[in-house]
Amino acid sequence: MGVDLSVERFGIKFENPLILASGPAGFGFELLQYLDLSKVGAITLKTVTLNPREGNAPPRLVDTHGGIINSIGLQNPGIGEFINSIAPRLKEIKTIKIGSIAGFSVEEWKVLGEEMDKIKEIKAIELDLSCPNVKGKKMWAKDEKLTQEAIKAVRESTDKPIIAKLAPDVTGIVGIAKKAVEAGADGLSIGNTIEAMRINIETGLPVLKLKTGGLSGPAIKPITLARVFKVAEALDVPIIGIGGVMNWKDALEYAMAGASLIGIGTALMINPQSPLEILEGIERFLRQKGIERFEDIVGIAHRGGFRCLSKNTGKRGIRTLQYW
Ligand SMILES: Cc1cc2nc3c(=O)[nH]c(=O)nc-3n(C[C@H](O)[C@H](O)[C@H](O)COP(=O)(O)O)c2cc1C
Repeated sequence: MGVDLSVERFGIKFENPLILASGPAGFGFELLQYLDLSKVGAITLKTVTLNPREGNAPPRLVDTHGGIINSIGLQNPGIGEFINSIAPRLKEIKTIKIGSIAGFSVEEWKVLGEEMDKIKEIKAIELDLSCPNVKGKKMWAKDEKLTQEAIKAVRESTDKPIIAKLAPDVTGIVGIAKKAVEAGADGLSIGNTIEAMRINIETGLPVLKLKTGGLSGPAIKPITLARVFKVAEALDVPIIGIGGVMNWKDALEYAMAGASLIGIGTALMINPQSPLEILEGIERFLRQKGIERFEDIVGIAHRGGFRCLSKNTGKRGIRTLQYW
């Protein structure tokens, strides 16, 4: 039985639900030798700011139980260099490209939106409202009003679909998500890294130069998954679930919680082939369950699980596999 993994959201048809999350995949070029990018649903490019940024001083990456803490600090060549040197080469990346931007002011968001709008290869624009690693930068996604201001500015500057990347470590994610949609976001990425730190017990000092960074990887999955579930319960908006997806079971949990698209970040740094293994696992699971379309399991946790799916499709005896 063939399984249809395609997903259509905000006017874009993705061949499958896997998206390389912004950051670990860079602009995609270095990854080409390790991963056939045409096999993933999309890549969200490294976040670009108005001016070039060298990022934070090292050490800016440290491991911890169940993940890594980074304080890269949005290292990027700036929008001018991106337009001149990166954008003309984006055709080499044979999957859907989502641009990512981060403004330091409302005016910057607007300019970045306008510049991204000009690039034909960019099919949607993600707003990184939630990077915890830049000193002095507003945490847009931690405030409803700031979230709206940034999204409105970009909304005015482009007709391309815009995706608001929200922070998982907020108390009222549903309220912020609602405001984001009201302001014009076509989709939500939930979420980003979560502020974290380590201390070197020999020196008695923080390991990272910036003292704190953002935690990613398996440790954050249950936290972000709960946010995806809550937002999907409250709102009818496409969600990209991002946080600690290391294998196909993690990806399925996000889909069942309501994410129609699933981002992969840290897993890619450990194994660049992991998206292919995740896709194989999802496909195998669906086939064994007798489910023909990935779309059928999106948000299933809100609809009574597999029993409900069995009723809806009129199929009998969907097998309950003992994976847990
Ligand atoms: C080294 C590194 C760099 C990142 N850079 C960005 C970035 O530039 N923009 C952004 O929106 N998110 C960035 N992220 C966050 C990821 O896109 C993702 O939201 C986060 O790592 C959680 O997913 P994961 O657990 O699968 O890594 C970065 C993450 C890592 C580990």
